[in-house]
Parts: sequence; C-alpha cells; structure tokens
Amino acid sequence: MDKLTIKDIDVSGKRVLVRVDFNVPLDEKTGAITDDSRIRATLPTIKYLIDRGARVILCSHLGRPEGKVVDKLRLTGVAQRLSQILGKQVGVTRSSIGSETEKSVASLKSGDVLFLENLRFHSAEERDSPLFARGLARLADIYVNDAFGTSHRSHASIVRVGEYLPSVAGLLLEKELETLGSILENPAHPFGGLLGGAKVSDKVGMLENIMDKVDFLLIGGGMAATFLKAKSYEIGLSLIEADRLDTAVGLMEKAARNGVNLLLPVDVVVVDEISAEAKGKIASIENISPHQRIVDIGPQTIKNFQEELQKCKTVFWNGPMGIYEIAQFTEGTQAMARLLASLEAATIIGGGSSAEIVTKMGLADKMTFVSTGGGATLRFLGGQTLPGVEALLDKDSLAAGKLKGLTTLA
Ligand code: 3PG
Ligand code: MG
Repeated sequence: MDKLTIKDIDVSGKRVLVRVDFNVPLDEKTGAITDDSRIRATLPTIKYLIDRGARVILCSHLGRPEGKVVDKLRLTGVAQRLSQILGKQVGVTRSSIGSETEKSVASLKSGDVLFLENLRFHSAEERDSPLFARGLARLADIYVNDAFGTSHRSHASIVRVGEYLPSVAGLLLEKELETLGSILENPAHPFGGLLGGAKVSDKVGMLENIMDKVDFLLIGGGMAATFLKAKSYEIGLSLIEADRLDTAVGLMEKAARNGVNLLLPVDVVVVDEISAEAKGKIASIENISPHQRIVDIGPQTIKNFQEELQKCKTVFWNGPMGIYEIAQFTEGTQAMARLLASLEAATIIGGGSSAEIVTKMGLADKMTFVSTGGGATLRFLGGQTLPGVEALLDKDSLAAGKLKGLTTLA
C-alpha cells in the first residue's frame, strides 16, 4: 500500500484519534447489537495502539441521525461492547468536540481508551465542515483512519481532519485495501464472481470493472430478474429496474466479448405473494406465470453455480440469492455460503448483507476474508478511489520530509 500506516510512525504516549466504522446493526426492538464484526475487525489497530502506550480516542457514526441527538443512536452500547472485549473501561464523551471533551482527553493516561459521542449528532460532520474537523483535530496529535466502511464518504472525520493532523491508515483499512486490491490486481484464476442482491443499479460500476478480471460471473438474487427480462423471459411480477435493461444487455455483451462465462438462473422459486407464510414453488425460467414473483434461485441453478464455483481458485461473493429475510427463501443463499466455506479457493465476501449472512451462519471464519464495507467495498471494486484513503499521507512523504511533528519508525 502506498499510504503510511500506524506501523510507520511512533505512537507511544501520543494522543491518537482513530476514526472507526462502528455503524453496527441494532435490534429494532431492544437496540442490542446484532453483529459486532465491525468492532472486532478493528481490534488489531486498537490493541496495537494500547500496547504502545498511546492515548486512544475513538470516533464513529452510528445510523443516520442527520445532525440531531437521537438517544437510541448513542454510542454507549458500542463502547460497552468494546469495553467487554478489551477487558478495559471505555467511556463515552457527551459530545464529539468542545471544551468538556478536551478535558476528558487531557485526563487520559497512556493506554487508555475513550469514545467520542456519535459524530453524526453534528450536521457539520456530513457537511465536511473545516471548523468541525479542527475541533476533532485539537483533541489529538495523530489521526488514524480505520473506518474502511465509511471511506467512500467525504465527511469531516474521514477527509478533513488530515488537513490539521498527520494522518495514517489503521490495520483494518490496510487489510481491506490489500485484500480487495489483490482480487483486482492479481487474482488466482479461475476467478468467479457470485453476485446477487436486489439492484443492478447499485452494482453497475463494480460489475463493469470486475468483468475484466473474472472467468465466471454467476448472477442470482433480485437482480437476476432484470437480466432475465433483458433476455425476454417472462418474469411475472418480480421487481426489475426497467431503466437498467440496456445496462444488463450491455453487461452480457461485454461478458461475451471478454470470454466471461455469465450464468443466470435456469430455475427459480416463485410465489404468488411475498409474505412470511408464503410457500414457494420451483419453476423453470421458461414457465414463470405473469402473476408470480421470483424469491430465490432453484435447485438446478444451485447445482450449476456449485459446479462452476468448485473450479475456482478465487471467489468474490456479494449479495444474497433470494429474499433472505424470509426463512423459506434462504435456501439458495445458504447453499452458496456453505459451498464457499468448503472451498479451497480464496473466498472474499463483499460486506453488507453477505457479510451478515455468513456471520449469522457461523461461517465467517471459514472464509478467506469478510469485508466490513458495504458501499465502500462496491466503490473500491468499481475501480474508484476512496476519498478517505486519498486523504492519508503517502509512504513517500517520509522521504520527502513532509511530516511535521511526527516521529517515524523508518
Ligand atoms: C455503512 O454502513 O455503509 C457505513 O457505515 C456508511 O454508512 P452510511 O451509508 O450511512 O454513510
Ligand atoms: Mg450504507
């Protein structure tokens, strides 16, 4: 990676502001954290800093409070979970910035950890306000970005703080960029992409970009309906993106030109109405009735996809194969997760719901890498740079002597 990381600099005794992405899913009723993978993924950075005697100041957003204080989006629960994992007290300030917060920071000792309250309680965060960024910068000597999942956002805590503090990458950010970068740069072939989820529109950039790298592309989930429709199949009342039919045709043409084997479902599970009680029927894609909706891939499609994936040395998976929120329509998604877990291949799971599924199934440890990013992962795999990464110091700033007030380990 061409950016400096915490390993390149001397952090001992320093006040280190670490932007993390602890935007974790919460139970709607109880507010409890339903998946703490994003917290656990950041432990290497936090522990590295604690072990070297830094004063660790963590900051994150949670949800989308839109500039207002929303009690159920306070970071208390997140800090508590981190505290349990670290076996160390982690307090939360009342506000991300201000004199009271500065006092709390001033009382930190070497190896202490403090959490700043939800950054998005201030509208200035998403507005990328220089004033807000300066308020954050005043708290620390060094800025670390370990929030891979938010690095596609041009928000103050992601792109602006680095104007006032030397800024380097954390270990999770480094790992994400290296692992996702490796599948773009030098994947072991055959390389298969398994893609699902509702919309083509979210993924066009990524589809276009990985089309130049993959040998197989297997498409399931809601988005398969748009491809099937583009091939003139009857897809009943399945939701499609009518304005993306040309995109789908373009992608299929590109696949053909590139010699990419693009597989669509040959059979699907259909229902008359989507509900928690609905019972699905298996139908060949030639026999979908005008009143039916596709809710999962069918058994023959599962077999076809398995056959291709078993040949692969690298597999990237993003997006469920069906409506995985409803138990009876998770078969395709679960079959794919189980298969990937059993492969010798490098298996990389793009974040968001695919990450949640493999974690819930207890298979995350069986994958080579599970990304903590959703939108950020798609953006990166679409070949775009991430503003939060751009904002960090380049490795060659060491040689250029650009690091005011920073001791390096070089
Ligand atoms: C995410 O969960 O995708 C990131 O934390 C970014 O959150 P956002 O989509 O609300 O900006
Ligand atoms: Mg998001």
